[in-house]
Amino acid sequence: MRKILVTGGLGFIGSHTVVELQHEGYEVVIIDNLSNSSREVLKGITGITGKEPLFVELDLKDKQGVQDFFKTHNDVDGVIHFAASKAVGESVGNPLLYYENNLNTLVYVLQELNKLQAANFIFSSSCTVYGQADELPITENAPVKPAESPYGNTKQIGEEIIKDSCKVSPNLKAIALRYFNPIGAHESALIGELPIGVPLNLVPFITQTAVGLREQLSVFGDDYPTTDGTCVRDYIHVVDLAKAHVIALKRLLDGENATNFEVFNLGTGTGSTVLEAIKSFEKVSGEHLNYKIAPRREGDVVAAFADTEKANTELGWTSELTLDDAMRSAWKWEKKIRNK
Ligand SMILES: NC(=O)c1ccc[n+]([C@@H]2O[C@H](COP(=O)([O-])OP(=O)(O)OC[C@H]3O[C@@H](n4cnc5c(N)ncnc54)[C@H](O)[C@@H]3O)[C@@H](O)[C@H]2O)c1
Repeated sequence: MRKILVTGGLGFIGSHTVVELQHEGYEVVIIDNLSNSSREVLKGITGITGKEPLFVELDLKDKQGVQDFFKTHNDVDGVIHFAASKAVGESVGNPLLYYENNLNTLVYVLQELNKLQAANFIFSSSCTVYGQADELPITENAPVKPAESPYGNTKQIGEEIIKDSCKVSPNLKAIALRYFNPIGAHESALIGELPIGVPLNLVPFITQTAVGLREQLSVFGDDYPTTDGTCVRDYIHVVDLAKAHVIALKRLLDGENATNFEVFNLGTGTGSTVLEAIKSFEKVSGEHLNYKIAPRREGDVVAAFADTEKANTELGWTSELTLDDAMRSAWKWEKKIRNK
């Protein structure tokens, strides 16, 4: 049985990926410092798969702790590295916190992984590296634009750190996965997204408004050059995203990678406007959403959706679930956590 370390494995995308890894027969070890998650997530994972993954509570900023972990677990076959801070606004206010948490941790993990024979590494990157792309859909060859925030910069620098390391470490093989907009929850409603405080992303804000936790959703701008004037995003179901990680990992484990450092977009290939997302939610939930049109928000990209050709053909992964599926699962999850 192959053993995989999932850092940040109790978080939103990490927990769904742990489930898919276990479904595929991998042994999983999770490292998380619980800074943006809770131990309860372990119960959710176990409820779905029937097997509790090994959990090590560790802050990856603790270099000695990371070294000790890899001494004990020198038999890991691969690492999927989700652990990071991800609030764009917070990163603007506290850049050093973000550079420390997102880059030091990456370096420490890579330093130890590099010492192993099987140094297979999957990195959580983001479509934010493209900024407002000149052409849509966005291919992996689109230029990386200057980052809009320290958070976005950590993803760009993170990719550079990994690429440089792969050049000089023959045993290190890595794939950076550039996610578009992950949404939804596991269909069991045993795991999902748990935003702390006011959600920054659209879907948790929608479900929290519908459940009565927020008064009203603001749609920022309806005068953009899009079909209905609102911004366009590529919403990808978190379960599809999780499955892509397992496929990417297997590609490295089986030595099917074309180069030692590869990049793939993970999206559906379809852009949806904010109003379309709201309509989808209203349709599947039967709820009326209280929203208003607000002025444009600074820094918002007008439209971003993925060209999925490379992921489809080279990785052999295609998204299967729809926006409606994602909204349905997100709503089921929201009601479950609010006990409604
Ligand atoms: N959710 C998105 O919209 C999105 C989009 C693109 C990229 N990403 C990236 O995907 C990854 C996972 O995102 P997510 O939405 O699941 O976030 P999340 O906050 O739910 O999960 C991250 C997990 O990492 C843990 N963590 C953070 N710092 C740590 C540290 N120093 N040591 C140990 N654990 C630590 C947190 O406690 C949390 O459980 C992140 O790297 C994020 O930047 C997310």
